[in-house]
Amino acid sequence: MTDVEELLLSRIRDVADYPEPGVMFKDITPLLADPAAFTALTDAFAEIAERTGATKIVGLEARGFILGAPVAVRAGLGFIPVRKAGKLPGATLSQAYDLEYGSAEIEVHAEDLTADDRVLVVDDVLATGGTAEASIRLVHRAGAAVAGVAVLMELSFLDGRPRLQAALDGAPLEALLTV
Ligand code: PRP
Ligand code: MG
Repeated sequence: MTDVEELLLSRIRDVADYPEPGVMFKDITPLLADPAAFTALTDAFAEIAERTGATKIVGLEARGFILGAPVAVRAGLGFIPVRKAGKLPGATLSQAYDLEYGSAEIEVHAEDLTADDRVLVVDDVLATGGTAEASIRLVHRAGAAVAGVAVLMELSFLDGRPRLQAALDGAPLEALLTV
């Protein structure tokens, strides 16, 4: 494990039985509160944006906003929010996806992405992959290409990576940490 990986891992707090019994919640607030760790994370994501030729950063509400916005600034790219349904005032594209119980819907402003864009999707955690998969579909439906998906932490036991394979169509899924 590299020094950066060790630093990032040391600033993620495991919270047992949250938000419900049997779930181990990955709390990133200690990382956000540590400027050295937050900077190292931002630099690592910005390097991925550069390497993949991204032209825009898409952040997934809510924690993907916190992590993605400084990456956009660092990389000199625009930031596009993918929001939970009903929060964007303009013309939107919507994508529904299944949760363990029930379903959810996310949206993007259609005018924010064009056929010239290559998008890096940024989020904190890849769990089942449902959120990331829906965001990839939104990017494609907006006419843009996916440069990649970058997450701080991949929970490999939830099999998000194989779920994303088809939607990614060869684009990389970059996880800074895998548990
Ligand atoms: C969490 C996490 C990821 C998503 C991963 O978001 O931040 O976005 O779940 O789960 P998945 O891979 O199974 O889709 P959540 O919507 O729970 O909360 P947030 O608004 O705090 O980001
Ligand atoms: Mg989230």
